[in-house]
Amino acid sequence: MADSGVGRPRFDHSFQAAPTRLYQSTKGCGDCSVSRSAFSFLVNPHRTPAEPFPFHAEFPPRGGAAALAALSACPRYAPTPLISLPGAAQRSGVAEVRYKDESGRFGLGSFKALGGAYAVARLLAEEVSRALGRPVGLAELARGEHAELTRRLTVVCASDGNHGRAVAAGAKVFRTRAVIYFHEGVSDGREAAVRTLGAEVVRTKGVYDESVRLAGEAAVREGWLVVSDTAAEPAGETAGVPLMVMEGYRVLVMEALDQLRAAGRPPPTHLFLQSGVGGLAAAVTAHLWSEFGADRPKVVVVEPTRADCLMRSAAAGQPVAVEGDLQTLMAGLACGEVSRVAWPVLKAGAEAFMAIDDLAAVDAMQALAEGGLGAEPIVAGESGVAGLAGLLALPLGGAEWLSLGLGPSSRVLVVGTEGATDPDIYHALVGRRVAAVG
Ligand SMILES: Cc1ncc(COP(=O)(O)O)c(C=O)c1O
Repeated sequence: MADSGVGRPRFDHSFQAAPTRLYQSTKGCGDCSVSRSAFSFLVNPHRTPAEPFPFHAEFPPRGGAAALAALSACPRYAPTPLISLPGAAQRSGVAEVRYKDESGRFGLGSFKALGGAYAVARLLAEEVSRALGRPVGLAELARGEHAELTRRLTVVCASDGNHGRAVAAGAKVFRTRAVIYFHEGVSDGREAAVRTLGAEVVRTKGVYDESVRLAGEAAVREGWLVVSDTAAEPAGETAGVPLMVMEGYRVLVMEALDQLRAAGRPPPTHLFLQSGVGGLAAAVTAHLWSEFGADRPKVVVVEPTRADCLMRSAAAGQPVAVEGDLQTLMAGLACGEVSRVAWPVLKAGAEAFMAIDDLAAVDAMQALAEGGLGAEPIVAGESGVAGLAGLLALPLGGAEWLSLGLGPSSRVLVVGTEGATDPDIYHALVGRRVAAVG
């Protein structure tokens, strides 16, 4: 593993209690001589670029279209913007960088709304269809025609914040009870956002992966429906729902390709995608692979240094869990175990893996907030900018840049996967309130 890192910042992660202190300590830290561009990089040794798409069963070609049809029937549906960042393109020595801004997705702050709410709808439809002995569509459910049945059901999930909010929103729309498991590191602001949607919250000790296990155990005990965005097993019983969630994520890349087409632009040559358990990156990789085959864009998976389970797994050739506290500002990416349905896709399909430090993410948030990348000011959350931060961290003309085949004709797509999903943390990191940006 080539490690370009030059030392790791030592954060005081008690930012929930004292957000301003963290901001000052990262910006003015005298004793953490850290480069803003510290990162690790691994060209994927297992990639099979020329192989035909091997995952038709898990990612059927029509899956994305089905999710788009269901989600676009929602009155709040609108494609999210695709914003050009000429400043980022110049800094990275490429022709263009486009930023798919998911902050406004369904008014829920992140791309996760595409997966969690869609999976709730699909699961409830399956349950109600079974109960009535006939197929029931999502539209019927959304109209509340089967509320007497759905009210008797409970959906449950574990989350770092965004997935829980999406599941809670889906449960509200489709009139069912939601219980969201949050580990102790999830901020109070993110818990409040979920409670506002009417969901119940259970706090657990330990890290995200532990909360996943506890939510699963509660579901078995109570007869609840698990809406998990990760799978503990490679296939079988636990894979179905995470695959539904990932089907929903495909909508964002379908939209981006349509938006490029409408603007008369070719598809991207590269994507830099942030990863927690790998669901988003795998869904996008699978979609592009099935669409473009061997000509597909190169996908670079970007993780926090302290939760780099995909990069470690790629180095080992099999899933490897990251132990420890997984402390990173990029709360949505603080996952120690890969999703077993995402892993095979990324093992074969990702071009490279990167791990970045928290400072790189804060830097990208600030640059976006200041309009410093050539666009109007953009509000982006700490997990939402990791892909962009990964791109910006690469030294122009350096070994990693060259190994990816980046150059003046490259067209890079990044996904801003969240807005200010915790406004207080955003304020602490960017130094300005959301309302003051733009
Ligand atoms: C804002 C944001 N971006 C990216 C991700 C990563 O998604 P995944 O866990 O599917 O890799 C998450 C996960 O929660 C997230 O909240």
